[in-house]
Amino acid sequence: MSLHCDLIIRDAAVFDGTGAPRFTADVGVTGDRITAIGDLGGASADREIIATGQALAPGFIDAHTHDDRAVLCGPACMLCKMSQGVTTVVVGNCGISLSPVRMRTRPVPPLDLLGDESWWTFDSFAAYAERLARDPSPVNTYALIGHMSLRVEAMAGDTQRAATDREAAHMQRRLAEALAQGASGFSTGLYYPPNMMAPTDEVIAVAEALRAAGGVYVTHMRDEANDVLLSIEETLQIGRAVNVPVVISHHKCAMPENYGRSTETLPRIEQGAQRQAVAFDIYPYHAGSTVLMPQRLRPDVPVQVTWSVPHPEVAGRLLDDIARNWGTTPREAAERLLPAGAIFFQMDEQDVRRIMQHGLAMIGSDGLPHDAYPHPRLWGTFPRVLGHYARDLGLFSTEAAVRKMTGHTAEVFGLVDRGVIRAGAYADLVLFDPATVCDAATFDAPTRPAVGIVETWVNGRSAYAHGVGATPERAGRLLTRAR
Ligand code: ZN
Ligand code: CU
Repeated sequence: MSLHCDLIIRDAAVFDGTGAPRFTADVGVTGDRITAIGDLGGASADREIIATGQALAPGFIDAHTHDDRAVLCGPACMLCKMSQGVTTVVVGNCGISLSPVRMRTRPVPPLDLLGDESWWTFDSFAAYAERLARDPSPVNTYALIGHMSLRVEAMAGDTQRAATDREAAHMQRRLAEALAQGASGFSTGLYYPPNMMAPTDEVIAVAEALRAAGGVYVTHMRDEANDVLLSIEETLQIGRAVNVPVVISHHKCAMPENYGRSTETLPRIEQGAQRQAVAFDIYPYHAGSTVLMPQRLRPDVPVQVTWSVPHPEVAGRLLDDIARNWGTTPREAAERLLPAGAIFFQMDEQDVRRIMQHGLAMIGSDGLPHDAYPHPRLWGTFPRVLGHYARDLGLFSTEAAVRKMTGHTAEVFGLVDRGVIRAGAYADLVLFDPATVCDAATFDAPTRPAVGIVETWVNGRSAYAHGVGATPERAGRLLTRAR
């Protein structure tokens, strides 16, 4: 009897996620797995797609997200990612995770990026995972536990200081519990006020829970500007102290006086990579986005407001314009907008390219899904790397671009049978048009869906199709780091 599959995608240019040269093949899917690759001329399927001229890649893994809440909100909430070909999101970054902590009042920034107190109801990772199992996401979720979330609970909200030994022990215990319940790592956001008073020793004490569990340490570093090299040292030190892999989040050299310094940071990271496991993620834009912190404004860094609780009407406008309108200084205007979020134009395009090009780079959107007027990275990151940086600028090959979004990322996070196209791997797939794939979201129109993504499959189920949008499928699972 001849082979029969649920789905056969025929005659596509296959980018297998490893960085190997593309090859033309038919790919067969049955259930949640890729079951055959090659010339499947003799095989049949319930659904067959002729993909001549199109590219097939492993579904993209968004290495850096704040989708903790978005994955709980159904297919429409994840359209921004599925329309880019994303099939797995890493949540809990920058020290911010929706569990294990309950909030009775609005959480301090930047924890409020995930929502007000009504969303902070998971006092264990198990409770969060249970909710995700009951109400599945259309994409796979891989979860980190955030230092800031742990601190708020352990220190009863009094976070402007170092934790005591007892408090650090409490955090370590809570992290260990979460890891036992299906979380895969620990993240810090040492740059942010509720975290910045934590000394390196405190981070090591908490991260100690990773050693036995085999977790990964991920960090929005203490300083991404003048002291970026010191922060890289600290990150490497923490990884060595507890003997786990480290990931530097959204690597950048921020502020005009540091432009060009990726020529210093990348060699230092490479040197570290010779003795310990290290990688980093990056989003393909020269502007960042986070909560608005008036004390950190600078006249040489333009700011665009993304949301404001008291003044929702100004979302999308430049802070300088708002200040001019109000007859105030930018600092005063910012104070009035709080709580609020913003985009900061604080990077050098040459650094962005140099960092993205590097072999240790993974692509992570850092998209902020609940912002009224989000940074375009939320809707554009992956197609922008494929279209703008790989195809149009020729910064690297499409094979290399796909590896930064799939195979390399799966290796760093310990995702087995994901991020690659081979028989036996999970059928997380994206079909796209290599000639047209491109981001459409901009700083002026930030939620325009990407162009050229034909269809996205998660665990063998069609999650998104061009012209259809998000399907009702909710085939995503909680993924856990291989130990
Ligand atoms: Zn961050
Ligand atoms: Cu982030």
